[in-house]
Amino acid sequence: MKRIRIFIAMLLMIFSLCGCQQTNGNSESDTAISSEPHITGNKAENIQSVSSAEQTSQSSESFSEQESPAQSKILIAYFTWAENVETGSDVDATASASVTLPGNVGQMAMWIQDEIGGDLFSIQVKEPYSADYNECLDRAADEKAEKARPVLKNTVENFSDYDIIFIGYPNWWYTAPMAVFSFLDEHDFSGKRVVLFCSHGTGGLASSVKDITAALPDSTIESNVIGVSRDDISISHDTVKSWLKAIGF
Ligand SMILES: Cc1cc2nc3c(=O)[nH]c(=O)nc-3n(C[C@H](O)[C@H](O)[C@H](O)COP(=O)(O)O)c2cc1C
Repeated sequence: MKRIRIFIAMLLMIFSLCGCQQTNGNSESDTAISSEPHITGNKAENIQSVSSAEQTSQSSESFSEQESPAQSKILIAYFTWAENVETGSDVDATASASVTLPGNVGQMAMWIQDEIGGDLFSIQVKEPYSADYNECLDRAADEKAEKARPVLKNTVENFSDYDIIFIGYPNWWYTAPMAVFSFLDEHDFSGKRVVLFCSHGTGGLASSVKDITAALPDSTIESNVIGVSRDDISISHDTVKSWLKAIGF
């Protein structure tokens, strides 16, 4: 009898060890530490952050551990500066690489749609930003300080039809542009699966994933978030494709 009890106890130990290994086997992480010194002007901060694809929070999950997203309806919502500048701005001719259409995040959104389908939605503010980099920086800094929620031009009327929502954004002042938080506030994300993608300067994802996760307490956030430096956008098509594969698309 005693031998049987010992045998059962050993079996239980083996099963619990296997379980631990499965929950930890998640996404890769790239932990290059960097900051964003390119920002000029009196509102510039200088903090450190982790760049590139990274594991984000303990409550996040990876789709690769869940059912296949093949049957799901997908929305790819993204904010890019180039689609949020004043009408009449000579966007393509500007000296700033960041404001050239389709924009870095816009480009990533198009690659994602090419690969997995889904509907694109460009998050656009009613009052566009200046195409001048420093003016845009100043307004964005004020909006962040005020925790503003800029009014959006449009919302997604059939939002409840979608199962998986991709949200793309540039790093603006170490988080997402406040317009992205307007978008989160204006739609019911409860029960949705959310995948984040970002483009940034030298500051990486900074607080963006933490801030968006906090704003979406009732969603499942994919733990593997891609962050592509603006300097690498032109060579990142394959990186985006590999990331989609890694998260189960
Ligand atoms: C208002 C503003 C604030 C920015 N703040 C940061 C920042 O804090 N950290 C960073 O790494 N990059 C920052 N950037 C750079 C953008 O994240 C980067 O250029 C990104 O690739 C732009 O994507 P987009 O072309 O889709 O707008 C900022 C850019 C702007 C316009």
